[in-house]
Amino acid sequence: MRITSFICLALLTMVAAGTLSCEEKAPALAPLIVEVDQTVAQIQPTMWGIFFEDINFGADGGIYAELVKNRSFEFAIPRMGWSIQQASDDSSHFVIINRGQTHPENPRFMRVKVDGNKGPWSMTNSGFRGMGLKQGVRYLFSVLAARPEGSTVTMNLSLLAENGEVLGQTTVTPQNTDWASCTATIECSRTDARGRLRIEFQGTGQLDLDMVSLFPSDTWNNRQGGLRADLVSLLAGLKPGFLRFPGGCIVEGRELATRYQWKKTIGDPARRQLIVNRWNTEFAHRPTPDYFQSFGLGFYEYFQLAEDIGAEPLPILNCGMACQFNTAELVPMDQLDEYVQDALDLIEFANGPADSPWGSIRATMGHPEPFGMKYLGIGNEQWGPQYFERYAVFEKAIRDRYPDIHLVSGTGPAPSEKLFDYAKEELKKYTPNLVDEHYYRNPEWFLENATRYDNYDRNSYKIFAGEYAAQSEFTCSPDNKNNWECALAEAAFMTGLERNADVVHMTSYAPLFGHLDAWQWTPNLIWFDNLNAYGTPNYYVQQMFSLHRGTDLLRVLQEGKPLTGQNGIYASAVWDSTTHEVIVKVVNAAEQDQTCRLTLNTAREILPEGELIVLQSKDKEAVNSIAQPTLIAPESNPLALNGKDLEIKLTPQSLTVVKVRTR
Ligand code: AHR
Repeated sequence: MRITSFICLALLTMVAAGTLSCEEKAPALAPLIVEVDQTVAQIQPTMWGIFFEDINFGADGGIYAELVKNRSFEFAIPRMGWSIQQASDDSSHFVIINRGQTHPENPRFMRVKVDGNKGPWSMTNSGFRGMGLKQGVRYLFSVLAARPEGSTVTMNLSLLAENGEVLGQTTVTPQNTDWASCTATIECSRTDARGRLRIEFQGTGQLDLDMVSLFPSDTWNNRQGGLRADLVSLLAGLKPGFLRFPGGCIVEGRELATRYQWKKTIGDPARRQLIVNRWNTEFAHRPTPDYFQSFGLGFYEYFQLAEDIGAEPLPILNCGMACQFNTAELVPMDQLDEYVQDALDLIEFANGPADSPWGSIRATMGHPEPFGMKYLGIGNEQWGPQYFERYAVFEKAIRDRYPDIHLVSGTGPAPSEKLFDYAKEELKKYTPNLVDEHYYRNPEWFLENATRYDNYDRNSYKIFAGEYAAQSEFTCSPDNKNNWECALAEAAFMTGLERNADVVHMTSYAPLFGHLDAWQWTPNLIWFDNLNAYGTPNYYVQQMFSLHRGTDLLRVLQEGKPLTGQNGIYASAVWDSTTHEVIVKVVNAAEQDQTCRLTLNTAREILPEGELIVLQSKDKEAVNSIAQPTLIAPESNPLALNGKDLEIKLTPQSLTVVKVRTR
């Protein structure tokens, strides 16, 4: 009797919530029993995290809010991004000086010579596919400048709209004969997605310029020279358990010379040596000749970002191997020391006291307290014996000195077959805490692999599902979409990750960001342009799991078995010991409604007000976009309960989170 009246109440709630129409009668499934009082394992706080790589203009041109492209004239073509207007054909008015012998990290600067009133003389920066300028926002201009005695050159700065309209102006007059920073602020009168910065020179004489920079003032946490607030907010909105950085293949470099070297990414941004971005030339169908790494977003800023958003930092370091899809260069074993030392020094940089050699650099940069780094990855997607002989050296050196660091090893680029099987065998010789598996596969693979970890060895290392994304077409294709079919398949797969949370300790979708005008890789979790950003359906799937990660794993069984696709249903459940909630995630991959009866097997009292959060679309091809950023986004409704049994109608092709509060 009690159950019947409760079911009526729950059904009424769902009619009100729009999840069930009165006429429809969904087929009933065998009940799902949630074993609330028997927790199976702890859910790691790191369970759902994020993977950051400077791909698709993720850093420069993306989250790093610098608007000037090629600010220090170090691109392969030193004037790339700049257009020059001069009153004479004489090539001596705008010259690039290279002082490589004395300034190896930042060899070039621009020398401007202008000639009294015979103007105009100007240089204009086009930004990264234009500059996103916003009405009412102040823009902070800075430059390193030097001028000889007697020079009277001043700079008129203008923010320009795409159509050439002036959106803000100011004047700066460098005074120093030695290099010194000059700054100015310009307020923008109108929003424009493809703005530019023009510097007009007036007066007579010479002026040397370097690190020409323009940042919005409304960065994340209002940090000068910081990160785009809208993009960081999207990351913070995931409440990620960890932040993996700086990649991905970017760690490896196409060749060793362009590998990621963290020591060159800290300290004064003007002394961080720019290198080519490995995605600049990677894909013939998406060449990006203006893609370089300024390292304005460097290792200090990554640690700071992780701290800001409450994520554990997880740096991945080069292990003496360049990308095996490219040059596959190897550092000889007798020259590996430098690489190992980089790892040891990084631990000191992140965790050492403020008076230690590397900790003091962190302190000087503004963070005397240690960052508390616990995890470190050795190599990215490396494979073969060359990887393991190098991994072994790192493992020994780090374990000897820092036994508490959790080490992450790779398993190659694929989740099965020869290279993967070889890695799994080899790994038996070592003691990584976590191993990184990557899967870029079609949605069917994700559905089928919801059981992937059910039979994994429980007495070995833990799993870091470090890069995954369902592919609607093939990886990197322009037609590869972040559509609902892919997101739903990932959700089904993620119930499998959660169900195996005793062995799966970290997971992250990849890649994270894609600039709509400058991408190389598809699909991506978050898309943006110069002014806007949106989360894909895949983003909302990640968010629904992450915000409801709970603290302990529970069993949810149907006829004694986990739900791994029977009738298109996938499910997992957790207990949250801080909120005393039972949280059940159910994916209905079928194309029709299904009625799902849940029984909470518990001695606890069930509180009457629960919550039902649904992410769904009837259209598998549906995507979010700048125009419709939340076409597919979770909807939350109250769920009325009356005891331990409830009935829920699962809409077709949906992910549902059921939250039940207990006492
Ligand atoms: O996520 C994009 C790329 O995919 C990563 O850089 C690499 O690790 C993988 O191959």
